[in-house]
Amino acid sequence: MKKIIIIGASSGMGMRIATDFARAGWRVGIAARNEQRLKAVQELYPDRITYSVIDVTAVDAVKKFEDLIEQLDGMDILLYAAGTGWYNPDLNLGKDEATIGVNVIGFTKIINSAYKYFKATANVDKGRIAAITSVGGMKGLGVSASYSATKRYQWTYLQALDQLAHTQHVNVSITDIRPGFVDTPLLAGNHNYPMLMSIDYVAPRIERAILERRRVATIDSRWAVVSALWKLIPNCVWNKIDVSLGGR
Ligand SMILES: NC(=O)c1ccc[n+]([C@@H]2O[C@H](COP(=O)([O-])OP(=O)(O)OC[C@H]3O[C@@H](n4cnc5c(N)ncnc54)[C@H](OP(=O)(O)O)[C@@H]3O)[C@@H](O)[C@H]2O)c1
Repeated sequence: MKKIIIIGASSGMGMRIATDFARAGWRVGIAARNEQRLKAVQELYPDRITYSVIDVTAVDAVKKFEDLIEQLDGMDILLYAAGTGWYNPDLNLGKDEATIGVNVIGFTKIINSAYKYFKATANVDKGRIAAITSVGGMKGLGVSASYSATKRYQWTYLQALDQLAHTQHVNVSITDIRPGFVDTPLLAGNHNYPMLMSIDYVAPRIERAILERRRVATIDSRWAVVSALWKLIPNCVWNKIDVSLGGR
């Protein structure tokens, strides 16, 4: 039985993708901080889902992640779906620090550990590392400075790992999933965001991108066009644009 571990599976996209893989017959390891929600997900497929309470910012995060791999008796796919961020035009430092904690420190701990796992084990069956980043990494967003900066960090780290895997002949593929706005608890019920997508719409697209070992998958094609246009905008023009993002 194939095995996937999803970090950040107590809500939103991670939770939905976890139940989809379980329904499809995979063994699924899920992790996040909220035990009550993890337990509720686990009870949907008690024979297939195993959960572990992991705070990716805590000192024991890597150890608990390794324990979860052991509990599952291996891992074919790691999906990092944990993340946080705020509409933060006042530059609240606590929000910036929390964003860096999950999107940079926690992300690095888990992805680093997964890479080493596949380096040590994936000689026959190719492993997969995937992370849900965001189109927000394309440019610095004034109202979400740390969020956009941490997402760019994730893009770069994943690109670097892909190069490292090739040069070290590590049998693993790296997938960077970049959605536009998705109606999840992260957006706190605010439906003013432009081109907002439902979880029902994005989940199968994300799952396909992982299974097809896409290097980068922007979800969806409209967002691929928008983010490509952002890239073309020179900084002297970008600086003057008020990207309020339907803010909260
Ligand atoms: N929603 C969007 O518009 C959108 C767009 C582009 C990209 N994304 C990205 O997609 C990913 C998934 O977010 P989502 O939209 O599905 O939001 P979500 O429903 O808020 O899910 C975030 C998940 O991260 C977990 N998490 C947060 N802090 C954690 C920590 N310290 N340790 C372990 N787990 C932690 C949460 O669980 P606990 O609270 O139980 O720990 C939850 O399971 C994020 O990286 C987000 O940046 C979202």
